[in-house]
Amino acid sequence: MDKIAIFDTTLRDGEQAPGFSMNVEEKLEMARQLEKLQVDIIEAGFPIASEGDFEATKRIASEIRSTTVAGLSRAVPGDIDRCWQALEKAARPRIHTFLATSDIHLKHKLGKTRGEALDLAVKAVERARGLCDEVEFSAEDAGRTEMNYLCTVLEAVIDAGARIVNVPDTVGYQTPAEYGILIRTLRERIRNIDGVTISTHCHDDLGLAVANSLAGIENGARQVECAVNGIGERAGNAALEEIVMAIDVRKRYFNATTDIRTKELYRSSQLLSKLTGKAVQVNKAIVGDNAFAHEAGIHQDGMLKAPMTYEIMSPERVGAPRSRIVLGKHSGRHALAAHYRELGYELNREDLERVYSRFLALADKKKRIDDQDLKSIHESANCISAR
Ligand code: KIV
Ligand code: ZN
Repeated sequence: MDKIAIFDTTLRDGEQAPGFSMNVEEKLEMARQLEKLQVDIIEAGFPIASEGDFEATKRIASEIRSTTVAGLSRAVPGDIDRCWQALEKAARPRIHTFLATSDIHLKHKLGKTRGEALDLAVKAVERARGLCDEVEFSAEDAGRTEMNYLCTVLEAVIDAGARIVNVPDTVGYQTPAEYGILIRTLRERIRNIDGVTISTHCHDDLGLAVANSLAGIENGARQVECAVNGIGERAGNAALEEIVMAIDVRKRYFNATTDIRTKELYRSSQLLSKLTGKAVQVNKAIVGDNAFAHEAGIHQDGMLKAPMTYEIMSPERVGAPRSRIVLGKHSGRHALAAHYRELGYELNREDLERVYSRFLALADKKKRIDDQDLKSIHESANCISAR
């Protein structure tokens, strides 16, 4: 099976998103958790962006020993040098330099011709390689870049020494089939691609970031850039926990694995939420409150008989609290009886009917029924069966 490298950009692209900024200590705490999670690369920051980002990248680079630490820089000499100053103490440093390649960005943002941008990209990679053995180049807005030009740029930066080429769908415009073809075409057409890692970096503007990243993997990408809880610019980045568990649950389909310790996924999500003060949406895949909760009667019945009926992974596998059978108006007699049993009541058939009708009447008024409600129902129903 092929190994997929997990490049975590929670502390760079994620932290860049409105409302998600973290101070140096908070970034360090998150970086320690990412090391425990065993991501392959931590993108610690964008050192030229601020003193705080420089300091955070430097502290993470000095402390984290078992994971590659990357810093981001534009394709500008001053940025690259500053990035290296922040990274030089790292056990495994990587300079990640980027330049936009789409005509839209070249014309409206950079005011450069394709030829000028090509030249800048090559010079940036050469400069970065003069400082650091491991250099990644990102063709920003690759998803909207003309294919021949994209191939030319990536071929040139590989000749200049880049060992990882990243293909960002910066604005989340691609569909999975298109993005898969893009990665496959690059793999087939770039003359010097052997031995070079192709990376995905997909944004979620159309809610397709994870699907696009997985399509990239299916077509030969071997590094995925993603962020815990899917945080990132605008609608966010591909969610790390979703990518990892898709590969883990469907490893035979992808014929691939990661080195992630999946039991640390929930803890990582919770820590990020605590540090940023942003709650995780309840129906978020893998780490949301409802990811392993069941209210509908048919589902509860299935879960009580065999969890595999309605769960494709166990909560333990991602370090989440155990599955919950939630009592509400959709619940059935089975789940209700099981819940009473947990409270110490063994209900006979008549008692179950009595409490069930009362339970339904209350559930119509109240969203969640708790243990105290169940005890009161039992008392008021004149049940024969006692505790
Ligand atoms: O979305 C993007 O294009 C980026 C690059 C800097 C990698 O974040
Ligand atoms: Zn991005």
